[in-house]
Amino acid sequence: MNCTKCKTKAVIKLPRHHAAFCKGCFTGFVHDQVAKAITSQKMFGKDDRILVAVSGGKDSLALWDILLKLGYKADALYVNLGIGTYSERSQEKVRRFAEAAAAPLGATLHRHTVEQEEGAGIRELAQLVHRPTCSTCGTIKRYQFNRAAIEHEYDVMATGHNLDDEAARLLGNVLHWQEEYLDKQGPNLPASVEGFAKKVKPLYRLAERELAAYCILNGIDYIVDECPMAQGARTLLYKEVLNRLETESPGTKQTFYWGFLDKQSRKASASTTMTEKDQAVLHPCATCGQPTTAEVCSYCKLMARAKTPSAS
Ligand code: AMP
Ligand code: FES
Ligand code: ZN
Repeated sequence: MNCTKCKTKAVIKLPRHHAAFCKGCFTGFVHDQVAKAITSQKMFGKDDRILVAVSGGKDSLALWDILLKLGYKADALYVNLGIGTYSERSQEKVRRFAEAAAAPLGATLHRHTVEQEEGAGIRELAQLVHRPTCSTCGTIKRYQFNRAAIEHEYDVMATGHNLDDEAARLLGNVLHWQEEYLDKQGPNLPASVEGFAKKVKPLYRLAERELAAYCILNGIDYIVDECPMAQGARTLLYKEVLNRLETESPGTKQTFYWGFLDKQSRKASASTTMTEKDQAVLHPCATCGQPTTAEVCSYCKLMARAKTPSAS
């Protein structure tokens, strides 16, 4: 099997693109896909300051690496969730990458430690408020990502969601006809109101296995294990189903998700409508000031309940 581009020995086959690549051409292909995502979705420019949420996994470390190599001003935020050795090991992966690859390019790593800032690790907090760990975790991460971006005045916040993540989420939303979530499924969410950072997903054109290959071929050491807490079993099931379809018919995931984006962009100014909708329902949280639809935002409610568990 030879590289489609330069005809030397290929190291990876990409059936959905009817292509195979050597290491150099594959790295170029990955960079091109991210560059295309950034420009076609008007995510950010070379003068913008970007905050990448980095978990220590393959996707977000690859994203930070790619943005820096493409010449963007990208710093990162790691949230230590206090999940025993899993958090310690993932933090170590992020720290090492930051020191060896990002710092020499002038990039900074911010860190938020849940045990210090919220007073307990994610598992204890979830127990205190009688909620599943993953949903407590999601509330805290979303809140802290946004807060860090706003406090440090970044122009945009980027996460490492890939094509598999987005296609699985879309499948779930379509199966349950969750139209209000469909509106927010694009890879570029505007800063619709004051206090909300713009949020982007520059990896939506790349599949999970392509990002794993990118890390391995480019010497990026990432945490392979998934979070030990119950993962969204539904999402894993949707990913499995989509992978079966992909094997039978390469390109299914991209046709599904990119086709959705194409339709969304043809709907008259989708982002304007979303901004208008947000502006109509969001106002500052009475406790912290971050935008919310309720009087008090879900993060502040969670923290209040965690402090008075008997009232929950
Ligand atoms: P997940 O929800 O675990 O699939 O993660 C989706 C994206 O959220 C990752 O690609 C990262 O960009 C970001 N992320 C997840 N966990 C963390 C974390 N502990 N610290 C910083 N960013 C994270
Ligand atoms: Fe949040 Fe696992 S990453 S509970
Ligand atoms: Zn609040």
